Amino acid sequence: MKKKKVYRLKKSVKIFILIFILAICLLIFGIKKLNDYMYTQTYEYKFAQLGYSSENIKLFISKLNDSELNELLAMEFNEFIPEFVNCKYFMYKNLNGYLSQVITQEDDFFKYHGTEGYDYDNIVALTNVGSIFKYYENTKPTDMNKDYAILVNKFYYLSSTYVPEDLVSIGWDYRLGGPKDYKYARKEVVEAFINMWNDAKMEGIYLLVDSAYREYEKQDSVYREYENKHGTKYADSIAARPGFSEHQTGLSLDIYSKECVSASTFKDTKTYAWLIANAHKYGFILRYPKGKEKITGYNYESWHYRYLGVDLATKVYEEGITYDEYYAFYLDK
Ligand code: DAL
Ligand code: ZN
Repeated sequence: MKKKKVYRLKKSVKIFILIFILAICLLIFGIKKLNDYMYTQTYEYKFAQLGYSSENIKLFISKLNDSELNELLAMEFNEFIPEFVNCKYFMYKNLNGYLSQVITQEDDFFKYHGTEGYDYDNIVALTNVGSIFKYYENTKPTDMNKDYAILVNKFYYLSSTYVPEDLVSIGWDYRLGGPKDYKYARKEVVEAFINMWNDAKMEGIYLLVDSAYREYEKQDSVYREYENKHGTKYADSIAARPGFSEHQTGLSLDIYSKECVSASTFKDTKTYAWLIANAHKYGFILRYPKGKEKITGYNYESWHYRYLGVDLATKVYEEGITYDEYYAFYLDK
């Protein structure tokens, strides 16, 4: 009797062990299936299915948010997308703009800008600032709330009636022209310039302001004069159309020196070298640098400095890009 009981127990243990093993197997199988399923839901899997390399996928995940990643997944594979995402100043909202430049490289972009602009970083910069469009097309009123950080260029304009409220006269010591050729700029700009003037003087450098604030009508006459003499293309390369000039903001100064007041040779002077190394410490940046003509829309102007305040000017200076690019990437929210 006792023996039979032992036998029954052994049988039930065996069944139990069998069921247990079966359950473990099922569990392992289930976990594996679940893992496989979970993997198919990852960006790694989905982008790989589209044809992107693991390097591309790491790049996308590090630079894009979820909604951007999902939008990219809905698009077909495009070999240029990783090239653009990899650019330092890539902005997702402009992706289609960048891609359209590659697609139309035989068309508008190169007819308008020439072929040397064909470089991913260049396309990103030109698209971000709006310069893939023809200048003075797609223009918008600028955001007046930005105050000293205001952007005025060939796409962002000031109202024809805008006159800064805090214009002050620039003393005769600090400017070109006779005692009655008054020149004005915003108060903080003049104070910053005088600080800069004093420090430069200690190093034997005599800064002089040429053009400063220009009202809308004055800018109109400056532009028309160039246009009448040399035609629209030339005028547009060196002067802003009325409403589109930084000089109307009261935040820009054309700066020369006692030794040189020539636009063509100022770039070769020690005053220019001093300004390039120091102007940002007083809140000024060179606004139309050499090599950035397509981005700014203007020829290189070694004499035109824009006041942004010390913090912002230092950031722009350290970043080494034009204010148009900086504004598009960091400030145009
Ligand atoms: N020369 C600069 C671009 C102006 O006219 O505002
Ligand atoms: Zn100027």
